[in-house]
Amino acid sequence: MCGIVAAVADRNIVPVLLEGLRKLEYRGYDSAGLALIDASGLHRLRSVGRVAELTAQVEESHVAGETGIAHTRWATHGVPCERNAHPHISAGLAVVHNGIIENHESLRGRLKALGYQFTSDTDTEVVAHLIAHELKTTPDFLSAVRQAIAQLQGAYAIAVLRESDPSRLVVAREGAPLLLGLSDDACYAASDASALVQVTRRMVYLDNGDCAELMRGSYRITRVNGMPVERPESESQLSAEAIELGNYRHYMQKEIFEQPVALANTLEMLGAARSIQPGIFGAESETILGKVRQVLIVACGTSYHAGLVARYWLESIAGIPCSVEVASEYRYRDSVPNPQTLVVTISQSGETADTLAALQHAKALGMQHTLCICNVPESSLVRENSLRFITRAGPEIGVASTKAFTTQLAALYLLTLVLAKVRQRLDGQEEAAELHAVRHLPMAVAKILELEPQIREWAERFSMKQHALFLGRGRHYPIAMEGALKLKEISYIHAEAYPAGELKHGPLALVDRDMPVIAVAPNDALLEKLKSNLQEVRARGGELYVFADADSEMKESNGIQVLQLPEHYGALSALLHVVPLQLLAYHVALVRGTDVDKPRNLAKSVTVE
Ligand code: F6R
Repeated sequence: MCGIVAAVADRNIVPVLLEGLRKLEYRGYDSAGLALIDASGLHRLRSVGRVAELTAQVEESHVAGETGIAHTRWATHGVPCERNAHPHISAGLAVVHNGIIENHESLRGRLKALGYQFTSDTDTEVVAHLIAHELKTTPDFLSAVRQAIAQLQGAYAIAVLRESDPSRLVVAREGAPLLLGLSDDACYAASDASALVQVTRRMVYLDNGDCAELMRGSYRITRVNGMPVERPESESQLSAEAIELGNYRHYMQKEIFEQPVALANTLEMLGAARSIQPGIFGAESETILGKVRQVLIVACGTSYHAGLVARYWLESIAGIPCSVEVASEYRYRDSVPNPQTLVVTISQSGETADTLAALQHAKALGMQHTLCICNVPESSLVRENSLRFITRAGPEIGVASTKAFTTQLAALYLLTLVLAKVRQRLDGQEEAAELHAVRHLPMAVAKILELEPQIREWAERFSMKQHALFLGRGRHYPIAMEGALKLKEISYIHAEAYPAGELKHGPLALVDRDMPVIAVAPNDALLEKLKSNLQEVRARGGELYVFADADSEMKESNGIQVLQLPEHYGALSALLHVVPLQLLAYHVALVRGTDVDKPRNLAKSVTVE
């Protein structure tokens, strides 16, 4: 949700700002802008659309400057248009913002009464006017920003530039990510490290409530109340190649094909041992996992689907009751807390506002045993949990999550095995066999990826449709949900998922020759029942596309297309069956010519409620 880059240096920083925005574009891409100070004063350029449009404008205007802030937007308040694009300006101050200012209406009313004129519909503009107003009585730039943000409610990361103080920038964060990048002659800030590895690997992650002043080659951090604080410096491990497209056409395609490596990296900590160590979830995990009597998983979107699959594993293999909740619902409903619960949050980014808030809510209800499964080690979520598992999928840039999902599933399966072991439901032989199966995952995914040509063919036929139904049973029902989500996100085909047994209770009414039905049909205990459900579809003229296991004995016939996955994988088949669905969505989107990596209306990291 919006990306921020800011820099103060002793050279022209425009190329750094633009390259940083390009890297952050996954966070929002409806408009972009930058503000700079040069010898003649403050300049602002804004454009609707992608960073490329802004770059063209910058090239045309030849602007340059040593201090600047830049922004790529995902609209919350006010439609995407130049007037609403950041930076917003007030009395020689420019502000970029990521997040939502919840009390913006009352602040706007107050500032209007004081004579400030608003030129946009955004909540951000109140921040610019508020700081300008504070500067009237508090000449120190950092103190004025602190006084202004003390009046804000909501979530924000901001960067502020002041025409009359060209050698410094002020940044602050509360509930939205922001980090500093350091070098000998410059200081930077950005929403994530990918924007800054072009210039430095030395990073300092700000905490909520931190406010920092950035100068060339130095910085100082204080809390909102002015108390100085120090935050540790760390070396970013992000490799430049990991965030480049390479020979792929889209990031989503790259990330689908990176899954064998992402899984191998995630599973690396298992080594070659025949037994699994609870310590992979953190130093205290053996004690904590030994105490818990139930699991509550909270997450959003694709990460929520990973949680739904895990519920089947946790209950059947580890024998522990598990509930799974959409984070945005859980945080607002009255629930019955149990202190012996392990609260598991799952998030690719670790910055999803709803998931963070749901975790806070669970803790406030007295549930202190918390574990997160996350792909970003420095994220807010990781810092707020007592136990953690970092998936090593590498940066995921395509908006539609793929490799993060399969690595989350791998982590959740390991959690299942550890809980089963701690609860004495797994003997040594079973444990070794399970680990053998887990280690086989990268290879199994690689084999499935070889099915791409067949899936591409299906996509051609499929792409003219306006609607689709996805069916699955048991732990493959969440996989059907994930397949439907992928398809709707990037191809804009309306897709819904149902547990196959529910079909006759309503959705069967939708089935006709124009409604393709995609079925996830592994060879498990529910296969025969699923086959009967599929007959019900066929009898109504529905066209079936079935993803079966090699030994499912599903035959192609008129109106039934079958694609056989190479092997049969038991409990882990849910992780594997999602891969062809990712490829199907990708190829359908390609045929339909949509923007695969940046689908309309979406953004990668949802840091607003
Ligand atoms: C879908 C997708 C989203 C995210 C959701 C949660 O492809 O990517 O549904 O899964 O926004 O994001 P994280 O996992 O970062 O918390």
